[in-house]
Amino acid sequence: MKLKSLFAGFLVGILFLSSRADEGMWLPMLIGKNYEQMKKQGFRLTADDLYNINQASLKDAIVWFNGGCTGEIVSKQGMIFTNHHCGYDAIAANSTPADNILDNGWWAPTMAAEKPIKDMWVSILVRMEDVTGRVQEGLAGVPEKDRNKKLMEINKKIVEEVTKGTGYDARVSEYYRGNAYYLLIFEKFNDVRLVGTPPQSIGKFGGDTDNWVWPRHTGDFSVFRVYANKENKPAAFSNDNVPFVPKRHLPVSIKGVKNNDFAMVYGFPGRTNRYETSMGVKLAIEKVNPTIVKLRDIRLSNWKKQMDANVDHRLKLSSMYASVANYWKYFIGQTEQMQRLKVYDSKLATESKFQDWANGKKDYQALLADWKVAYGNWEKYAVHSTYMNEGIMASTSWARFPLQMKGLSEALTKNDAESIKKATDGLKKAAEAMKANAFRETSDRAILAAILVQFYKDIPADQHPAVLKEVFKSADNLEVQAEKYVNKLYSKSILVNADKAMAFLEKPNAKTLEADPAYKLINGFVSNFNDNISKYAMEFNAINGTNMRLFIKGMMEMNPNTMFYPDANSTLRITYGNVQDYQPRDGVTYNITTNIDGIAEKYKAGDDEFDLPKNFLELVKKRDFGPYAENGTIPVAFITNNDITGGNSGSPVINGDGELIGLAFDGNWEAMSGDIVFDKKYKRTICVDARYVLWCIEKLGNAPHIVKELDVRK
Ligand code: ARG
Repeated sequence: MKLKSLFAGFLVGILFLSSRADEGMWLPMLIGKNYEQMKKQGFRLTADDLYNINQASLKDAIVWFNGGCTGEIVSKQGMIFTNHHCGYDAIAANSTPADNILDNGWWAPTMAAEKPIKDMWVSILVRMEDVTGRVQEGLAGVPEKDRNKKLMEINKKIVEEVTKGTGYDARVSEYYRGNAYYLLIFEKFNDVRLVGTPPQSIGKFGGDTDNWVWPRHTGDFSVFRVYANKENKPAAFSNDNVPFVPKRHLPVSIKGVKNNDFAMVYGFPGRTNRYETSMGVKLAIEKVNPTIVKLRDIRLSNWKKQMDANVDHRLKLSSMYASVANYWKYFIGQTEQMQRLKVYDSKLATESKFQDWANGKKDYQALLADWKVAYGNWEKYAVHSTYMNEGIMASTSWARFPLQMKGLSEALTKNDAESIKKATDGLKKAAEAMKANAFRETSDRAILAAILVQFYKDIPADQHPAVLKEVFKSADNLEVQAEKYVNKLYSKSILVNADKAMAFLEKPNAKTLEADPAYKLINGFVSNFNDNISKYAMEFNAINGTNMRLFIKGMMEMNPNTMFYPDANSTLRITYGNVQDYQPRDGVTYNITTNIDGIAEKYKAGDDEFDLPKNFLELVKKRDFGPYAENGTIPVAFITNNDITGGNSGSPVINGDGELIGLAFDGNWEAMSGDIVFDKKYKRTICVDARYVLWCIEKLGNAPHIVKELDVRK
């Protein structure tokens, strides 16, 4: 799952070593503790094969892919597999109606033809170190309110020391919500090129209808390559760069999978909230999640209209559309499953046990009660905060521009020539960038109007910004009033149009700016939030952070014989378990695999989500499956009980022999509450089968040279 996290609401992950693993995102550096159990479950390599800093290990084949995903190196020449939805933005950005690789697919005929991707990077973990002692020493005696600032100072110093003169990239990450700290040292590569992609009718087959759902038939993969300089070190893009030679790459197995086979996922899970409180669950179910869904609906439906009317617009909007739609459905599912699985009740039960233990313990006894008070104070403002992030500031392509103008306004008022020049220079760049979004005007107008109406209805009047009175004179005909207001704004404002903005920036003046309707609207909302709401947000976040840290510390003290794994935090983890079927509901069992004939069953000619490339059905009819068939068909996707989340998208699914059997790409509907609670019965990882990947490249894509570069194990 790709990480596009804005918020994610959090449970208690407890794993007894005696049980079979599935739950748990473990630190590679400490994986020795799990090794015996992994062996019992079917892992056949050594612990040093998993993580070792003195010799090549599997970690050297895993890349953090552009911050939001994972990829794996599958050849001696730096070829990387990741998901299609992880490459989506790069693929769409390299598509035009005339050369439409998003819709048609594309495979580089030679290395020289591979497409450099601007701003794309991958990082490989060199090593990690426990720096908890040093960080905690630095934090000793620091009051809670200064903690984050101090933490940043300490971390910066550690990073500077370790990276000095090395060319490495490093960060200190917080684990167990501030109970432990690890230093992660990476080699970060900035020359990443697209090797190829299947058509999106394969890579996104099933679209949003099938998204987050098993059984699944999506060929969710794309192929990249990392380049380095002649010394095999990271370098900015250059034609002189050469394919990176990894310390280790993953062989690709086409032997297939059976129920209960060992499977592990090695990757960069983004964020889980497994210790989330009952209060947090309630707030998410009742208020925050439905608000996110409602606001995303507004954006999606209006973008869709524009996309359907114009191919060029579709290509330009499709990546943003896909990522907003992905978490739109996520939040629908999370709410539904938290209710179905009675997550609120299970949280209450955990908290009640905790309270029994905490009574009489000075540090812990008032923790939950205080936390509840904090939630009580925050509740009335939480939806407003969601409206700012997911509504007002996400409404239009220009929504941030009036905010950026604030600095200029101050400079103009002070009449300070130097800061005026500095501000205008920066703003000209922003205005220039706006040109690319001019095509969004139709949807921007409709979205802004709809969000204003919704804000007026959903947010209590005593929290409204004064500027809302300029939009709505009365509570009747809100839609009509909003539309009228937006039309007027568009005809008057110099901030919603790049050319007008440029002209203004040549000769800026305070009066025009302060009177500009877009300036007044956005800054009116933002200053109302800053003046009246954000103090509650800050207060709540501070208490929530502190209490979460204490709560987890307490849980660990309360259960001294339990091995705890930390919540996901966009750092490298190993999760291991098995290929495993499940019963989604009474009387129904879902198989572990789907196959290529199931794709043909779902096929709908001309459909947005279930269409297929022309040659696909012919190839299937010919049963032209090469070495990738099993029982006369090609397995397309399979499921495991591995513990993954957003950020794990594209992660290798590895068998007992350390070979790639598939790529993790999604979670399943029955466990959409998985970031809050891992439900053993229902939680599955959806993976695209390596055999389908190879078939799509070799047969469907007619690019056997790419498969030849791999280390295929039969
Ligand atoms: N649910 C998948 C994930 O989070 C992403 C799928 C993208 N596809 C889509 N139809 N929006 O990794």
